[in-house]
Amino acid sequence: MGPLSAPPCTLDITWKELLLTASFLIFWNPPTTAQVTIEAQPTKVSEGKDVLLLVHNLPQNVAGYSWYKGQIMDLHHYITAYTIDTEMIILGPAYSGRETVYSNASLLIQNVTQKDTGSYTIQITKRGDGTKRVTGHFTLYLETPKPYISSSNLNPREGTETVILSCDPDTQDVSYLWWINGQSLPISRPWQLCENNRILMLYGVTKDIAGPYECEMKNPVSSSRSDPVTLNLLLELPKPYITSNNFNPMENKNVVALTCEPKTQGYTYVWRVNCHSLLVSPRLKQLGKNRILILTSVTRNDTGPYECEIWDRVGSICSEPVTLDVLYGPDVPSIFPSRTDYHSGENLYLSCFADSNPPTEYTWSMHGKFLQSGQKLSIPKITTKHTGIYGCSARNSATGKECSTFKIVIVSEKSQENIFIPSLCPM
Ligand SMILES: *[C@@H]1O[C@H](CO)[C@@H](O)[C@H](O)[C@H]1NC(C)=O
Ligand SMILES: *[C@@H]1O[C@H](CO)[C@@H](O)[C@H](O)[C@H]1NC(C)=O
Ligand SMILES: *[C@@H]1O[C@H](CO)[C@@H](O)[C@H](O)[C@H]1NC(C)=O
Repeated sequence: MGPLSAPPCTLDITWKELLLTASFLIFWNPPTTAQVTIEAQPTKVSEGKDVLLLVHNLPQNVAGYSWYKGQIMDLHHYITAYTIDTEMIILGPAYSGRETVYSNASLLIQNVTQKDTGSYTIQITKRGDGTKRVTGHFTLYLETPKPYISSSNLNPREGTETVILSCDPDTQDVSYLWWINGQSLPISRPWQLCENNRILMLYGVTKDIAGPYECEMKNPVSSSRSDPVTLNLLLELPKPYITSNNFNPMENKNVVALTCEPKTQGYTYVWRVNCHSLLVSPRLKQLGKNRILILTSVTRNDTGPYECEIWDRVGSICSEPVTLDVLYGPDVPSIFPSRTDYHSGENLYLSCFADSNPPTEYTWSMHGKFLQSGQKLSIPKITTKHTGIYGCSARNSATGKECSTFKIVIVSEKSQENIFIPSLCPM
C-alpha cells in the first residue's frame, strides 16, 4: 500500500511517509509509457482570476494524486493530495488556501497571484505496490498586463542628454522587447539594455531616434504592448544677437527698435537693461512676443547696455550686450565761477560746461566778438578794460544744436551790483 491509499491517518504520519517517498524517488525512473498532459483553463489567466489545471490521459488503476509547486517533489513543495478510496484530501506546506484538488486530479487555483506562476508537478500513484507512479509537469503563466513606458526625461536636449526608458511593471518570467518606429531596435546605436532588457538607456537622443518607442511584455501564453512614447527633443539654443534700426539715435527725436535675433518658434524672449529686467514704462513697447523692443522717445538714459535672452522649457542663453550711443545736447551751458566782481591785476579764469554727446565744442566771446575756443578762458592781470559780457557757446556737431550762456564781469576797485543776464538757448 502506498502512502496515499493508506487508511485515514494523521497528517504527521502521512508527512513522514511522504518524506520516505521523497528519498525513495531519487532511485526511481519514471515509466515512459503513459503521457500525462496538463492544460490550463482558461489558457490565459490574469491576476485575481481562477485557473483550473486540467489533467488528461490519466493512467488506469489510480490510487491517488499529489500536487507539487515546482519540479522538486519533496515535502517542502507539497501542495495537496487526494486519495481515491478514502476521498481524503491532504494539505501540505506549499498549500496557500486557494488550491482545490478534484477527484479527477484537476487542480483549481483561485484568485491567482504573481507568486502562483511557474511550474507544477502532479504525481499519480497507481494501485499495487505504491512504486508505480506517473508524473506530469505544467508551467503556469499569467496573462501579461499592458505595460507602460516611464522616462527619466521626456524633453531631452538634442544630442547631449541621456534618457532612461523603463518598461513597467517589473514582472517575473516575462521577456521585454523594445520597438522604435514600429521596428525592433537597430544594432549600431548609442544605447544599452539592462535588467533583462526592461531598461533602455539612450545616450544622446537625436531626431531619428526620438521615437515613438513601444515596449512589449511577452511570455509563452500572451504578449502585450505599451502605448507609444515619443521624446520631444529640445534643439540646441542659438546664441541670440541684437539688431537695431539705429544705434546712434538722437535724444527726444528718434524711435529705436531693438530686435532679438534669430526669430524662432517656441522660444520666449526676455530683455535686460543694465543687468536688470526691463521696467514697465509707457515709452517701452514689446512686440512680437517680446522679440522687438521699441523705445518711442529715446533719451540719454536709454544708453544701455541691452541684452536679450532666449528661453525654452529648460534653459536660456543670453546675447552679448549692446549699447545705444544716444546723441544729445548740448544742455544749457554753465559758466564757473559765478562771481562777477573782479579787481584790476587779478587773473580771470572762467570755465564752461554743457553736457553733450559727442562732447561739446566750446567757444568764448566778449560783446559778441570771438575770443577763443576751448572749455576754459584764462586772461592774466585784467584791467578795467576787461569789464564786459562774456559768452560761452556750446555746440554739438552731431545734433547740430548750439546753446549759449552769458556772464558779466566787472573789473574795478570797488564791487558793483549784479546785473541779471538771461540764458539764450534755442531748442
Ligand atoms: C475535473 O473536475 C472539475 C470539477 O468538477 C471539472 O471542472 C473538470 O472539467 C474535470 N476535468 C476533466 C478533465 O474532466
Ligand atoms: C484575492 O487576493 C487579493 C490579494 O491577496 C485579496 O486582496 C483579495 O481579497 C482576494 N480576492 C478573493 C476573491 O479572494
Ligand atoms: C535721466 O536720469 C536722471 C536720473 O534718474 C534724471 O535726473 C534725468 O532727468 C533723466 N534724463 C532724461 C533726459 O530723462
